[in-house]
Amino acid sequence: MEFSMKAAALRSTVAAFALASFGAAPVAAEELFYVSGAVGNAVENFKALVKPWEEATGNTVTMVPMPASTTDQFAQYRLWLAAGTSDIDLFQTDVIWAPQLADHFVDLTEVAKDLAPTHFPSIIESQTVNGKLVALPIFTDAPALYYRKDLLEKHGAAVPKTWEELTATAQMIQDAERAEGKADLWGFVWQGNAYEGLTCNALEWVKSFGGGQIVEPDGTISINNEKAVQALDTVKGWVGTISPDGVLAYQEEEARGVWQTGNAVFMRNWPYAYGLGNGDDSAVKGLFDVAPLPTGGDNPTSAATLGGWNVAVSKYSTKQEAAISLAMYLAGPEAQKQRAINESNLPTIVSLYDDADIAAAQPIIPRWKDVFLQAVPRPSAPTKGKYNEVSSKFWSAVHNTLSGNGTAAENLELLEVELTDIKGSGW
Ligand code: GLC
Repeated sequence: MEFSMKAAALRSTVAAFALASFGAAPVAAEELFYVSGAVGNAVENFKALVKPWEEATGNTVTMVPMPASTTDQFAQYRLWLAAGTSDIDLFQTDVIWAPQLADHFVDLTEVAKDLAPTHFPSIIESQTVNGKLVALPIFTDAPALYYRKDLLEKHGAAVPKTWEELTATAQMIQDAERAEGKADLWGFVWQGNAYEGLTCNALEWVKSFGGGQIVEPDGTISINNEKAVQALDTVKGWVGTISPDGVLAYQEEEARGVWQTGNAVFMRNWPYAYGLGNGDDSAVKGLFDVAPLPTGGDNPTSAATLGGWNVAVSKYSTKQEAAISLAMYLAGPEAQKQRAINESNLPTIVSLYDDADIAAAQPIIPRWKDVFLQAVPRPSAPTKGKYNEVSSKFWSAVHNTLSGNGTAAENLELLEVELTDIKGSGW
């Protein structure tokens, strides 16, 4: 007993001596592990993005890449976090995950008290669960209708304002171009795979037809309604006509692949596809523009699903101080600007929408401020820890409908029963 007390005293004397003699010199450099899914050039850009932080702190960071699908990432993250792994220090998290993963992350409220007010309040709020700031926003997302200016002009067509106009224009241009030998051209590509991305697309169809938000902010299950049926019936009509049958397996990158090789008139995708579409290796460089997504039926307003990504520090990390420093850097103005210019990601820091360098490099960014400010959130806040189940039931009902497995009316009726069961006595 006495011996171990002496040893402890000796250790602390040595530690005090080390501190005194080296002053504020950095403690041994840390090697951090940052896990993230990625689309486009995100993995490639990450090294350049974190370099200034690595140089300033002497720490290093390794990105552990995940599958592109946010659904697959979520499943893996949940396993890691449930096991309390200390192998991962930081997690890049989707905007919808905060309520479900909150318990596993460090509260960043205090450390970000000066940075957080420079971000859009609604985004900070989306990452706040019971007063705890569980992740810091690094970019936000709201989709666009990408359209080929050259093809619309050649065929005398206007940018569609309604889904009905989009259907007609896509069909007309597809037919005419195919008759001229462009056999691979499709009218419209989007994300129809059975995953979270289909929830985003389908929420836009339903909401833009006036059919609500699946589960309303007050917790009411609203999805089983005529407008929603009308929306899904419209989309069912696209599969195999203006959209390839394969669209039912597409995620973001598959849609972008068809688009960027010049084989689509229209595409629904997030802003990351804007910069890449104007890249030197893109067949559509300079040939396209973006517009808000169309409206449906007699409903006057269109809908864009709110997306976005954040960075969270794992409670199980043994290098929390360095991890928090990296999170602050990635959510800060320097990294957000770099990401905006190089990945055409929408910043979450208000002042960056007036940044001349960003506007010059990626004109979509200042133009998209209002689109994302009006974007529709998925029902992750009202359904709390049950969101993933709700979303997976929703995308399955939609995927079944689009694959001809039951009608929209039948599948939405069944969905209502399933969601009521998941809700039980309350979300
Ligand atoms: C984008 C969005 C994200 C969404 C995902 C769906 O990455 O930012 O919020 O969940 O697409 O595929």
